Amino acid sequence: MDLIASCDGKRIIDVGAGASTLIESLVDNGYDVTVLDISSEALRILSNRHGNNLEYIRGDLSKKLDLGAYEIWHDRAVLHFLVDESAREKYVSNLESCISSGGFAVIETFSTDGEKMCCGLDLHTYDEEMLIDLLGGNWFLVDSIRHTHINPFGGERPYISTIFQRK
Ligand SMILES: C[S@@+](CC[C@H](N)C(=O)[O-])C[C@H]1O[C@@H](n2cnc3c(N)ncnc32)[C@H](O)[C@@H]1O
Repeated sequence: MDLIASCDGKRIIDVGAGASTLIESLVDNGYDVTVLDISSEALRILSNRHGNNLEYIRGDLSKKLDLGAYEIWHDRAVLHFLVDESAREKYVSNLESCISSGGFAVIETFSTDGEKMCCGLDLHTYDEEMLIDLLGGNWFLVDSIRHTHINPFGGERPYISTIFQRK
């Protein structure tokens, strides 16, 4: 919430939202929230919790999506599952389709000094330079924080959380 609150704007899309309780904090803090996930089960859980308070999009970030316009894009723990370069290119093009100049991307992924697999899936992990390279020249890095996330099974997962702003 601190990272998101440091960005100007209240219109946010949380991609790969899962069943995150972050959504509750966003709603409580007056954000206009859209959640996107590939999983209809995740969206069903969020819909049971939040009903008409959110907009819901079922979509695969590795494919071209028709998204609205937002001021903030938030991703915790989706990008690192996109192991194919073509999928990552689509991710960036989806991001750029809905965040215009002055808008923000808050991107949080497993860092390169952590695990290379999660839930039996291969990961593509990141450091600051890799995220800067991925987003390309239309963005600048505002802030970057390293921290250790403790997963639900007690495992330590080194993370990198970044804020980018579109030029
Ligand atoms: C590890 S969970 C993170 C959930 C939440 N953001 C959090 O931090 O607790 C990853 C989420 O990304 C979704 N996901 C995975 N691949 C995706 C894709 N290609 N497009 C959209 N969502 C995807 C999964 O369904 C899952 O809900």
